[in-house]
Amino acid sequence: MEQGIVSPRIFNDPELYSYELDRIFARCWCFVAHESEIPMPGDYVLRNIGQDQFIVVRDEDGQIRVLFNKCTHRGSPVCRVEKGNSSHFRCPYHSWVFKNNGDWSGAPYRKKAYKKLDAAAWGLAAAPHVDSVHGLIFASLDPDAPTLDDYLGGMRWYLDALLGLNDQGMRAIGEPHRWRVPANWKSGAENFMADAYHVPSLHRSAEEVGMFPNIEAGGAGPQAGSRHVYFDEGHGMIINDGFLPPPWHRSGFPPEVADTFQLDRLAPDQQLFVDNHSATTFLIFPNLGLVRVPASPHPDAPPTVFTYLRQLQPSGPDTIVNWNWTLGWNSAPDGFNEDAYVAALSMHGPAGILEQDDTVVWGGPPTAGKSVFARKSGMRFNFQLGLDGMSDYAEDTSWAFPGRATTTALGEAPQRAFYRRWLREVSTADHAENREDGQ
Ligand code: FES
Ligand SMILES: [Fe+2]
Repeated sequence: MEQGIVSPRIFNDPELYSYELDRIFARCWCFVAHESEIPMPGDYVLRNIGQDQFIVVRDEDGQIRVLFNKCTHRGSPVCRVEKGNSSHFRCPYHSWVFKNNGDWSGAPYRKKAYKKLDAAAWGLAAAPHVDSVHGLIFASLDPDAPTLDDYLGGMRWYLDALLGLNDQGMRAIGEPHRWRVPANWKSGAENFMADAYHVPSLHRSAEEVGMFPNIEAGGAGPQAGSRHVYFDEGHGMIINDGFLPPPWHRSGFPPEVADTFQLDRLAPDQQLFVDNHSATTFLIFPNLGLVRVPASPHPDAPPTVFTYLRQLQPSGPDTIVNWNWTLGWNSAPDGFNEDAYVAALSMHGPAGILEQDDTVVWGGPPTAGKSVFARKSGMRFNFQLGLDGMSDYAEDTSWAFPGRATTTALGEAPQRAFYRRWLREVSTADHAENREDGQ
């Protein structure tokens, strides 16, 4: 990474992928749902961590649990519906029953069949750590995981400034959209983290048809008004200094939305950040992205800033299942959230104009990754943008907020930090793997 060189192999290698599942997805804090999707006791949704499926459920006491959707009898999924409300889950195979907190609750012929069953030992397995921040529910499968706050590090400060702007908070609008893309999850992750460089070329057509503000002047490109902020932990963002002129708020929200913000909830330095900057995109390692940009929901309508979460769920080394949740402000007037939802769909839904651009080009790395000629010719990918002497991109030591900031976004320092973190994780075995090896 010091030379900015990456092998195509990491984008399509089954063995490396198995390490990613073991050492990244089963170890990091992964996003699973928004709290607004499961507001009532018994509400649940099915979600994935890596390729394992979990029931994210609010139990009868209101506590959020992340339960492995595998019956402890023979492993059948106990919940077969993507979303619903239930006090119990009954396995379809032999009808073992579990409470929505995961406890074993009963079985047919229990008194005759399981006279000595230790019920406490046969509940559904659960993620050992579940926590949430500004409505985003994360889980970690690693018993030794740090707290979510420690995991997020300086990103927590920015989450306050992006999502914690008033007491009413945000909610997921409708169902998350999801669709399969023939790509490697890391291509999406590095793009969401920091790839401002692709916007003026790959997304030029969106500007040409008038759906996207002037890319360079508006700050969506890599130069004027854009910069990177990133962390050695592999989280990072593209920060902009404001897309839209007054009366829009710096984040791009109109006065009727910005007036509902209670900036006194924030620390003084966070208020200063909100008054002068916003994030275009972010990535929380390993695979939760966010986009907040303006787009016009209808022809001739003024631009509406939308916020959506993107999870790049791996489904094999060459397949991503994209999940999108458009977030709306609970405090926003009628119509604003609907416009934001339409704008988000038009840009980054399954048929969104930007989404189609991105997902076509991300198909390249996995095909290079398994190409015979790429291997025989020693092909390497270039991550050298912004290395010494390549551009004027430099660390901005005057940045008064958390993280490492750069002078522009015409560089790839965050992507290099992402792949350094990736390498640390896939190279490090954990206790569970050692236990398994010893059996
Ligand atoms: S597999 Fe679930 S009850 Fe047998
Ligand atoms: Fe893009």
